[in-house]
Amino acid sequence: MDWISPRALNRLGMLNMNRRNVDYIARYNERSAFPLVDNKLKTKLVVAEYGVKTPKLLQVVRQQHEISHFKEMAEDLAGFAIKPAKGSGGKGITVITGRDGDDYIKASGARVDSPFLQRHLTNILAGLYSLAGTPDVAIVESLVESVPSLAKYSHQGVPDIRIIVFQGYPVMAMLRLATTASDGKANLHQGAVGVGLDIGTGRSLNAVQFNRPIKLHPDTGLALENIQIEAWDEMLEMAARCYEATELGYIGVDLVVDATQGPLLLELNARPGLAIQMANGRGLLPRLRTIEAIRRPHFSPQDRSRFAMETFASL
Ligand SMILES: Nc1ncnc2c1ncn2[C@@H]1O[C@H](COP(=O)(O)OP(=O)(O)O)[C@@H](O)[C@H]1O
Ligand SMILES: [Mg+2]
Repeated sequence: MDWISPRALNRLGMLNMNRRNVDYIARYNERSAFPLVDNKLKTKLVVAEYGVKTPKLLQVVRQQHEISHFKEMAEDLAGFAIKPAKGSGGKGITVITGRDGDDYIKASGARVDSPFLQRHLTNILAGLYSLAGTPDVAIVESLVESVPSLAKYSHQGVPDIRIIVFQGYPVMAMLRLATTASDGKANLHQGAVGVGLDIGTGRSLNAVQFNRPIKLHPDTGLALENIQIEAWDEMLEMAARCYEATELGYIGVDLVVDATQGPLLLELNARPGLAIQMANGRGLLPRLRTIEAIRRPHFSPQDRSRFAMETFASL
């Protein structure tokens, strides 16, 4: 599947960028709701009202002088993540997984000191990683410690699960695994591995890295077939509930499975990428059209995810 002809892509029902933008994002996503999902702090606060859990917020750093509070707060912490509220694509995220004396150990194993983290916070506030380069705020949240059954597949980073939710129905999903190339983050364009997941069961289908099919994780060497996501129906329902929280018709919902807390929402995306189709070896269009043809939409997130499990299961 290295190169697929436009005709073959059509046959698979692959959604392309232009059609996604015009027929789905522009048509189903209210522009006024974008600021909510483009800001991780706002997302966290809103979804909480809909019973969707996110990693615990430890601190919000809005101004330079608050960085000294961070220094005090972080002194006693073994693990946390610092991220720009308006960042994307894994840029500007520092994940700290341990301590060595006064130093902090990053997910990649690299050691950084407190002045490094403080400079990082300064850079975030200055807007170095924000979407439009405008000033931003930094959020410090608790470290997600992935369930071992999934963590073992990922190289030095928490794997996440991307679910495309259309009109409140989960339509396609993939697991993203960090690699050496992706530096402890599960972002595909940074070199993470994407593993398509069967909506019906939460089991793995195909896997890709840089849009090319692979069978084994490039760093961990583990086979990527037969991965099973636990509590799959719970995850789908949680993703479906983000529709009520945002009223956005076409979103990418990014979840992680924490070892003690279970499924948590990491972030929402109003312009989710299309590579998920490569990871699944299937196109989005037929599924989107199935949902568009429903005459009496299901009311509850649970009913919608149940419908999706039955309708979009790969045999
Ligand atoms: N609290 C956390 N604990 C551990 N890893 C995290 C945490 N938050 C983010 N990550 C890692 O960083 C990646 C990117 O984080 P995310 O919040 O999705 O931001 P982005 O918008 O940049 O993709 C995640 O896929 C995950 O691998
Ligand atoms: Mg992300």
